[in-house]
Amino acid sequence: MRMYDIIEDKKRGRTLSKEAIDFVIKGYTDGSIPDYQMSALLMAIYCKGMNSEETAQLTLAMARSGQMMDLSSIEGIKVDKHSTGGVGDKTTIVLGPLVAAAGVKVAKMSGRGLGHTGGTIDKLESIPDFHVELSMEAFVENVNTHGMAVIAQSGEFAPADKKLYALRDVTATVDNVSLIASSIMSKKIAAGAQAIVLDVKCGSGAFMKTAEAATELAETMVAIGNNVGRKTVGIVSDMSQPLGFAVGNALEVIEAFETLKGKGPQDLTELTIHLASNMLYLAKIADTVQTARERVKEVIANGEAILKLKEWIASQGGDPSVVEDYSLLPHSAQTQEVTLEKKGYVSAIDTEKIGKVALLLGAGRETKESTIDLAVGLIIHKKIGDYVAPDDPIATLYHSSASRLQDAVQMLQEAYSLSETEVEKPTLIYKMIY
Ligand code: URA
Repeated sequence: MRMYDIIEDKKRGRTLSKEAIDFVIKGYTDGSIPDYQMSALLMAIYCKGMNSEETAQLTLAMARSGQMMDLSSIEGIKVDKHSTGGVGDKTTIVLGPLVAAAGVKVAKMSGRGLGHTGGTIDKLESIPDFHVELSMEAFVENVNTHGMAVIAQSGEFAPADKKLYALRDVTATVDNVSLIASSIMSKKIAAGAQAIVLDVKCGSGAFMKTAEAATELAETMVAIGNNVGRKTVGIVSDMSQPLGFAVGNALEVIEAFETLKGKGPQDLTELTIHLASNMLYLAKIADTVQTARERVKEVIANGEAILKLKEWIASQGGDPSVVEDYSLLPHSAQTQEVTLEKKGYVSAIDTEKIGKVALLLGAGRETKESTIDLAVGLIIHKKIGDYVAPDDPIATLYHSSASRLQDAVQMLQEAYSLSETEVEKPTLIYKMIY
């Protein structure tokens, strides 16, 4: 088999065989296929596309290019959740204890934040003494004993994807649905998921800006999952404004805890119940999504979810009293309320800018090496459709230094658009893909 012929085939729009795809991924991972040939193939794929069978084969080949997590010693169907990322997305911290309390085993590896979106692992590190790094044995043991564990991603999952993603980044081939979908799904499959719930975000704070683009990505990922024997469900959800009100690590942890106590923001509560119900259904804990929904609401109402949260925190070395006493979390000494000095209904929020406000305050990383301030961030007071009077605060900033405060205030103000007439609130869940 020659790479030249494979490039030629794709250039002519022909379908690549499983053998050809395996040859490409193996050769690119071991270095026998050079960047210039891989770049040519990526551009041919970008221009001519791949069908669902080719996309599934590419996903499997990338998943198998490195370590494959073996979760077979954990009983039950292992269901993973993946979110394509957004601002204020703390769903994993709510979902984990919620589904674990309802009987689903949660063996989750999460990432850190980079750029305008936060990462679950950084948020969890706001909990004093919480260990995000466990040995594989301890990880599996915790899941078997306590029903859940969430750790920082370690090891080399899908190294082919890592190399390919870096090449796509410099060859203008990132924004191809087959390539994005196979990239995301290869990592989920390598991490051991047997069933997957995908939360594909759309809107100003998401990778996919429109519901149509997000739906196409969700449909492609659901098809891959089902094609490779992992039952997959896709949810297309709104990211035209931050999820909940809190943006910033410790602030988001508090909001997640409140949600598990049944006192969270309406959108975050609804989305997590929805995701959790689908996870219970895929894990075969419930016969229908509706029965699953009843069970999920029950574990919030009867306090089992909060008990599971405390058990989880303690099992990873953290102090569970943090759940009742938020003063144990990092907190900012200084706050500033921000107004718009004009009136109207909020018609749009540039959510990526809100993420950048948190970044400016120190809540996120500008580069992989940056250190972050776990206490800082913002609490939004006005969301799309809300009326704002000139002296109404739109948000409160939690900060620790005045150095970039003025820039943050200005950026926050620029993120809001007002309209003179009433504005409808956005739909939270656009679509379900089974
Ligand atoms: N996230 C990924 O993991 N891969 C992509 O290609 C795009 C976003």
